[in-house]
Amino acid sequence: MTRYGLGTKTDAQGLYDRIADVQKFAMKLNGYRASVAKYLRSLDLSLDSNSRVLDAGCGTGIVSMAFQDSGLASKQTVALDLSRRSLKIASGDMARRKQKTGNFEPVQGNLLQLPFEDKTFDMVMMCGVLEYTPLDAGLSEAARVLKSGAPLVLLPVKPSLVGSVLEVLYDFKIHPLDEIKEAARKYFHFAGNHRFPVTHPIAWSKTIFLLEKK
Ligand SMILES: C[S@@+](CC[C@H](N)C(=O)[O-])C[C@H]1O[C@@H](n2cnc3c(N)ncnc32)[C@H](O)[C@@H]1O
Repeated sequence: MTRYGLGTKTDAQGLYDRIADVQKFAMKLNGYRASVAKYLRSLDLSLDSNSRVLDAGCGTGIVSMAFQDSGLASKQTVALDLSRRSLKIASGDMARRKQKTGNFEPVQGNLLQLPFEDKTFDMVMMCGVLEYTPLDAGLSEAARVLKSGAPLVLLPVKPSLVGSVLEVLYDFKIHPLDEIKEAARKYFHFAGNHRFPVTHPIAWSKTIFLLEKK
């Protein structure tokens, strides 16, 4: 695999197996889940009780929980990550809360080789994870498993002071936003770029692209 951030999937897996508990705590402090839920709620998505949603690189499941908080309908939320420890935390938290939208299915795996058939999902979310992969490889896998016209909610770390600190702490590589847009164009129509309000801590390091599978 091309050297990228930590270089190999085993490196990322090992890192997040070690820091999953701290990561969960840090994400609780910064209001990330509420910010993402609010954004998802604002979208006009055609999801229903038959929809399947994938949170690829789910970590401790914050974005899956934000999706559930948003009240959007689904039959199933599949949460995939390399880190078994992160998945265990996500599964525990999901089991403790009353699920509002469909079933939660944790899957240990690599988003560069998603263990799903083509056109399986009605929505994919990739948040803070393509920083560990080459852009085209990650985006093409997301496109492969999405149905035509279905959305990819892509939440990259943006070039910024806070982003640079995170880049060192978490050993990843920030992709310039222009490069993300350019790479995404091959598989997706660009449907929007949401900038979080500056009062939301997540705004200091992340932005959201809404993309639609071609
Ligand atoms: C910064 S965390 C983001 C977690 C979550 N998406 C969020 O927004 O809170 C990055 C996650 O990506 C996972 N990851 C890194 N490379 C991956 C890959 N190739 N396949 C699946 N997961 C990966 C790590 O294990 C880690 O849990």
